[in-house]
Amino acid sequence: MLSYRHAFHAGNFADVLKHLVLIKSIEYMQQKPGPLLYIDTHAGAGSYPLDSRMSRKTDEYAAGAGALQLQRLPADFDSYGALIERFGKQGIYPGSPQIAAELLRTQDKLRLFELHPTDFPKLAKLFARDKRVRCEQSDGHHALKSLLPAPQKRALILMDPSYEIKREYQTVVESLQAGYKRMANATYLLWYPVVQRDWINRMIKTLRSSGIKDIWQFELGIAPDNREPGMTASGILAINPPWVLPQQLQTLLPLLQQQLAPIRGFYRIQAIVPG
Ligand SMILES: C[S@@+](CC[C@H](N)C(=O)[O-])C[C@H]1O[C@@H](n2cnc3c(N)ncnc32)[C@H](O)[C@@H]1O
Repeated sequence: MLSYRHAFHAGNFADVLKHLVLIKSIEYMQQKPGPLLYIDTHAGAGSYPLDSRMSRKTDEYAAGAGALQLQRLPADFDSYGALIERFGKQGIYPGSPQIAAELLRTQDKLRLFELHPTDFPKLAKLFARDKRVRCEQSDGHHALKSLLPAPQKRALILMDPSYEIKREYQTVVESLQAGYKRMANATYLLWYPVVQRDWINRMIKTLRSSGIKDIWQFELGIAPDNREPGMTASGILAINPPWVLPQQLQTLLPLLQQQLAPIRGFYRIQAIVPG
């Protein structure tokens, strides 16, 4: 049952948090010259034209990345801001694979997984000439287990499912546990939507008792939690994030909240399990 298409949502407020955390993590990990393995377990189409029928239908970009006043954000936002501007001029919002490919170096490798029969060919076409990148139309959870531990010794994993079925809230935690067991020093970024807060609390409870260390929660909301359908906030559960990241977000998230949801929004930065 793959009905989710990220093109409807590309560049929305949830992508802003997700892609900011991704970029800051890549930048930090690149301070060392050693090669890095980037795994995107749920890659999507890779790149999103803003004039597509899907993007125009929801106009979520206009209330997300498109609403940012980039000149009023501090230097820590510059690299992401520059990508938003550069791709925006081409009428595109870049997905996580395109963002990672822009930042990663020749010595780094990207492994991208996407199941959707329409989005996978777009992803594969986008990276057909990039020798660092390998795209596969297969299950990202399963692939993660087969790729870790990374021969590169350093790995960044983005897990960004569509949560089309409720079971996914459990699957992601099982997948994180399986990955961590194989490579405890990798950095894992799990994105989640806040539709029902209970589902997120349950994930966090399981993670707290999993034995995994150094877990952080970063969240940006546009409305308080409620019982209505629809996403009111989204977050990242990060394992082994860069040590500087909580502090960087402490500066950036209040500003993003002010720009994107000044009245009803909120943000959250908290350690779930200490390092
Ligand atoms: C939220 S989108 C990904 C967006 C992308 N990470 C980004 O930030 O640009 C989630 C994608 O996961 C795909 N998907 C769902 N289940 C999957 C699975 N088990 N393995 C790989 N891809 C899957 C969906 O088709 C969808 O395109």
